[in-house]
Amino acid sequence: MPNHPKQADPDHPVLQPIADRFSPYLYEPRAVETDKLLTCLEAARWAASSFNEQPWRFIVATREDEPAFKAALECLMDANQPWAANAGVLILTAVSTSFSRNGNPNRVAEHDLGLAAGNLSVQAAALGLQVHQMAGVNLAKVRQTYNIPEGFEPVTAMTIGYAADPNAAGEGNELADRDKGGRERKPFDEWVFAGNWGNAASL
Ligand SMILES: Cc1cc2nc3c(=O)[nH]c(=O)nc-3n(C[C@H](O)[C@H](O)[C@H](O)COP(=O)(O)O)c2cc1C
Repeated sequence: MPNHPKQADPDHPVLQPIADRFSPYLYEPRAVETDKLLTCLEAARWAASSFNEQPWRFIVATREDEPAFKAALECLMDANQPWAANAGVLILTAVSTSFSRNGNPNRVAEHDLGLAAGNLSVQAAALGLQVHQMAGVNLAKVRQTYNIPEGFEPVTAMTIGYAADPNAAGEGNELADRDKGGRERKPFDEWVFAGNWGNAASL
C-alpha cells in the first residue's frame, strides 16, 4: 500500500505494517481471498491472553455469501453501514465474560479481544488489506441474530477489505474525503509517564 494519504509518519521506526495500517472508509467492493482471511484469523489466534483463555469469539460473514453479509451489515449502526457495505469481510466480535477454568469474572476479556483484533489488523496490513473496527454496533441485534448465549457479550465489529484510492474517487465523495485526512496522535508526554501520574517520562 505505497503512498496512501493515511499512511503513518512515525517519529520512531516501527514495523512497516504498523505504519501502513489505517481504518479506511473507502473500500473496493471486492472479496478477500480465503487464504488471506485465514491468515488474518490465524494472527488473531496467536494473540496473548490472560491465562491463555482466548476469550474472543468472531462471527465472520464474507461478501460472497450475500444473505450472511447482509445480516451482519444490519447489525451495524446506521452511520457505519454505507461504507462497511463495500468491505470484503464483516466480523462481529464477542467475549466470554468469565474464565472457563474457574468461572470467575474475566475483567480483561475485552482487553484480550483488543489484542486479537490488533494482531488481525496488523497482519491484514501486511497482506495489503485494511481493517476498520467499530464500536457502533447494535449489540442487542447481534445477540438476537446469532443466538449469543449467556456468558458471552457482543462487543465490536470490524471490516476487512482492500482500501480504495481516495484520490481516484472524484470530487464530492464524502467517504473519500475522510480517507484523505491526516493522522493525529498524542505526543508521548501526554501518556508516557514516570515516577508520578502526569510526569512525562524522560527517555
Ligand atoms: C474499538 C474501536 C471502535 C471504533 N468504532 C468506530 C465506529 O463505530 N465507526 C467508525 O467509523 N470508526 C470507528 N473506529 C475507528 C477509529 O475512529 C479509528 O481507529 C481512529 O480514528 C484512528 O484512526 P486509524 O485507525 O486510521 O489510525 C473504531 C476503532 C476502534 C479501535
